[in-house]
Amino acid sequence: MLRFGILSTAKIGRELVVPAIQDAENCVVTAFASRDLAKARALSDRFGAPHAFGSYEEMLASDVIDAVYIPLPTSQHVEWSIKAAEAGKHVLCEKPIALKASEIETLIAARDRNKVLISEAFMVTYAPVWLKVRELLREKAIGELKHVQGAFTYFNRDPSNMRNIPELGGGALPDIGVYPTITTRFVTEKEMA
Ligand SMILES: NC(=O)c1ccc[n+]([C@@H]2O[C@H](COP(=O)([O-])OP(=O)(O)OC[C@H]3O[C@@H](n4cnc5c(N)ncnc54)[C@H](OP(=O)(O)O)[C@@H]3O)[C@@H](O)[C@H]2O)c1
Repeated sequence: MLRFGILSTAKIGRELVVPAIQDAENCVVTAFASRDLAKARALSDRFGAPHAFGSYEEMLASDVIDAVYIPLPTSQHVEWSIKAAEAGKHVLCEKPIALKASEIETLIAARDRNKVLISEAFMVTYAPVWLKVRELLREKAIGELKHVQGAFTYFNRDPSNMRNIPELGGGALPDIGVYPTITTRFVTEKEMA
């Protein structure tokens, strides 16, 4: 059993990823960490996790987890992925894992130095539907691919939401523009998983 600690009380974690981890046969969520201990404890109680921490650092220093899931604001992904790796924990980090391609090199170095796995939680690279599209394109089922047009839209006008705060990694491209980009690169095998 891989024991996951959840780094923050983010919506994507509490609504989708934590229930999925709890459903998996080989994983279990054993801890939540938040900047606010009461919030961490509330989620630990809700999901039956035995541990709650009032800081991310405390959870990384503990021996009650083997891996972390990181759904922090995008600007903090690289920093906390590296801190988790340095603490000897495997990392599943929300997309986009970095805002600059050059930061990936530091993640790879941290991964290799600490002999852990670091993975980006991009559903495209694991979803059967996109694996099938990649296979069909490889077989030229639709002939020679000439052009891809992609769109991903929704409304979010809340100025306090991190998606609208550039300093936290907000903005259209890092938030959802990455989806058509990564999907195109993945199905055309420019991006390997
Ligand atoms: N893979 C997907 O399909 C998918 C879907 C949605 C979102 N995401 C990604 O997941 C990440 C989180 O998204 P979300 O909508 O779930 O976020 P969210 O609900 O706003 O949660 C972000 C969490 O980060 C922590 N945090 C630390 N510093 C913060 C700061 N300065 N400002 C705000 N929060 C801070 C907070 O936890 P504490 O207060 O508990 O410390 C907060 O609960 C983003 O990178 C996003 O791109 C991925």
